[in-house]
This record gives sequence, C-alpha cells and structure tokens, in this order.
Amino acid sequence: MLAIEGVSAGYGRLEILHKVSLDVGPGEIVGIIGPNGAGKSTLLKTIFGYLPPFEGMIRFGGETLAGLSPDRVMRRGIGYVAQAGGVFAHMSVHENLVLGGYSLGTRRAIMTAIERVYALFPLFVKRAGQRAGSLSGGEQRALAVARTLIVSPKLIILDEPSAALAPRFIDEIYGTLVALNRSGIALLIVEQNVRRILDVAQRVVVLDMGRNAFAGASAELRQFDRIRRLYLGEDAS
Ligand SMILES: Nc1ncnc2c1ncn2[C@@H]1O[C@H](COP(=O)(O)OP(=O)(O)OP(=O)(O)O)[C@@H](O)[C@H]1O
Ligand SMILES: [Mg+2]
Repeated sequence: MLAIEGVSAGYGRLEILHKVSLDVGPGEIVGIIGPNGAGKSTLLKTIFGYLPPFEGMIRFGGETLAGLSPDRVMRRGIGYVAQAGGVFAHMSVHENLVLGGYSLGTRRAIMTAIERVYALFPLFVKRAGQRAGSLSGGEQRALAVARTLIVSPKLIILDEPSAALAPRFIDEIYGTLVALNRSGIALLIVEQNVRRILDVAQRVVVLDMGRNAFAGASAELRQFDRIRRLYLGEDAS
C-alpha cells in the first residue's frame, strides 16, 4: 500500500536520508526504530509532504506521493501524528477535531465525521468544550490520533506516540492504536520504546545514520544480537 524505494531527503541541500526503502501493506503495523538523529522523523515528514525527496519513489495505493503537499497527502488517506503531540493547546477539544476535518470541505461533512470520531472516543464528548492544553499528556496524544481519523485514513503514521508518557498512558494509547488497526487501519510507528513496538508490529525497520540498517519481522529482529545490544540495551552474550 505504502511503498518507499531509494528515498533520499533532507533539509535544504543537507542530505539526511540516504536511499531508504520501506513498505507498509494494508492493515499492517510496521515499526521504525533507530538511535536519536537517525532520520526517523525526517522520513515521516518526507512521506507526509513536508519535505520533498531528492530522489527515489514514494507511492501510496499505486499513486505517487512525492511532490504533493501535506494537505493532498492527507486527502489520499494518510494521517500524521507529529513528534511531541500536535494538539492546539489553546483551542477546545472540539475545535481541534474540526481542524482535522477542514479538508472535507463542507461543515456538514465535517460534523458527520466528528460524530463518528466521538463514537470511537466517548471521553471527548464530555470534554468537547475543554481546552486541549488542559487534557493529560495521554489524552492529548489520543486527541492527536482522533483528529487524524476525521478524514478516514487508510494509514496513520505516528512519530513516537509513547514519548514522555507514563506507563499507564502508554498502555492506553497502544490499546487505542491496536483497536484502530483491528478496524483495518494500517500503522507506521516511529518508536523509541523498542519492546513496545516489537509487541505490536509485524515488521520493523531499523534506521541508522539515515540508512536502512535492518528490515524484517519483529520476531526475527529479536534474534539479532547486535541489534538487541544496540536498541534493546540487552547484553547479548
Ligand atoms: N529542520 C532541520 N534542519 C536541518 N537539520 C535538521 C532539521 N531537523 C532535523 N535535522 C537533522 O536531521 C537529522 C535527523 O533528525 P531526525 O529528527 O529525523 O532524527 P530522529 O531519528 O527523528 O531523532 P529522534 O529520535 O531524536 O527524534 C539530525 O542530524 C538533525 O539534526
Ligand atoms: Mg524524531
């Protein structure tokens, strides 16, 4: 469904990603891990159209995404939850959801979509008028996910959904993500919490210094001593 092949990208003329390749099939959960500065966020920004690729191919459902604006990428059926939240703190929960649907065009279409999202996240019905900034960290992350659902994405890409959350909230957000996946939405998740991603993802891609260092089944990744040492902090002796 999402096919990335030989993509190089970066900022200005600075190349950060060097010929990165990655696939996500329909309904799949794929993880991206790698050390700080490896280029994980840069890759997601490139997929979503914030950065134009220097070379390589990005396709979604057979059609090219390279060169499309984030708005257009979203309308093709991809949701994006940026690193560090992505809710508008000074706006209400409801206003945040409305913003997620602006590309639907008519107010009626937006309201129908929001009703569907409220049914999935009953918590936000009670909190509709509350300032998003006053929600807990976990609730804000859930709101950022809920907002992507307004346009009925086939794939959601998430940049470190568990970052800076207490374990209880990490369980909650991952519970939500797994439920969305069961409903048929594919997920591409950048995650520092390697154990967590190995538990939910069928496949994992390791990025290191802007390059593919490993790609394979989660079960397979656990077997690699070097990767376990580097990314799981385990002594693989
Ligand atoms: N706006 C920018 N302009 C120039 N360089 C940038 C910019 N944003 C990131 N970089 C550089 O690109 C490289 C990759 O950054 P990126 O944020 O993609 O890494 P990451 O794998 O997401 O790291 P982390 O795990 O810390 O989130 C880093 O060397 C970073 O300094
Ligand atoms: Mg990052």
